[in-house]
Amino acid sequence: MKLTYYGHGCIGVRIEGVDLLFDPYISENPLAKHIEISTVPADYILISHGHYDHIADAVPIAKRTGATVIANYEITQWLAKQGLQRLHSMNAGGVAKFSFGRLRLVQAAHSSSMPDGTYGGTAVSFVIESPEGNFFFSGDTGLTAEMDIVGRFIPLKFAVLCIGGTYTMDVDTAVHAATLLHTDLVVGIHYDTIPPLAIDKQQAIQKFDSVLKQLILLEPGESIDL
Ligand code: NI
Ligand code: MN
Repeated sequence: MKLTYYGHGCIGVRIEGVDLLFDPYISENPLAKHIEISTVPADYILISHGHYDHIADAVPIAKRTGATVIANYEITQWLAKQGLQRLHSMNAGGVAKFSFGRLRLVQAAHSSSMPDGTYGGTAVSFVIESPEGNFFFSGDTGLTAEMDIVGRFIPLKFAVLCIGGTYTMDVDTAVHAATLLHTDLVVGIHYDTIPPLAIDKQQAIQKFDSVLKQLILLEPGESIDL
């Protein structure tokens, strides 16, 4: 499984030759200026909630690639009005099978409205169970009891967790989230994009290390095999 960090809350994951793109926000991220969205691959685009910093590049990337967008019902309705046709609507608590494996939407502790103010349904985190391993993608969330439920029943290879604080979990909270999720390997997202989300990277890595967990922090555009 290859994971690419595109900055902020956006990652790409390649599973069995299928490219998943989560929460595309690249072209307006000052830390991802060197990434050209016309080069970003996607067979599926997964959107955790309607906030601008998670959906800004979804329409142009979906139109170019022909990717199917998976999101809650309200977000897919909104994207249909933007001219997208390949949409797969789900909802918090829902489970469905795709070519990359099984996808589960778990309620996030966050809000969801579309960039134009339209109601954006329930914010979610994603759990992917694939032949190459299972992982959790937080989107924007606080610590939730759902993490413990996921961790008890689904063995995770790693978790992708927001760590920048203010709107989401901070580093200390994400350490607890990793514990609830029963995983020792975390990829950090949603930090440093704007001043309120600034973190001390070395200190963050040490905080995970002190509880025998590993925090991976990638540069925007950087990939890793997991
Ligand atoms: Ni948000
Ligand atoms: Mn966000």
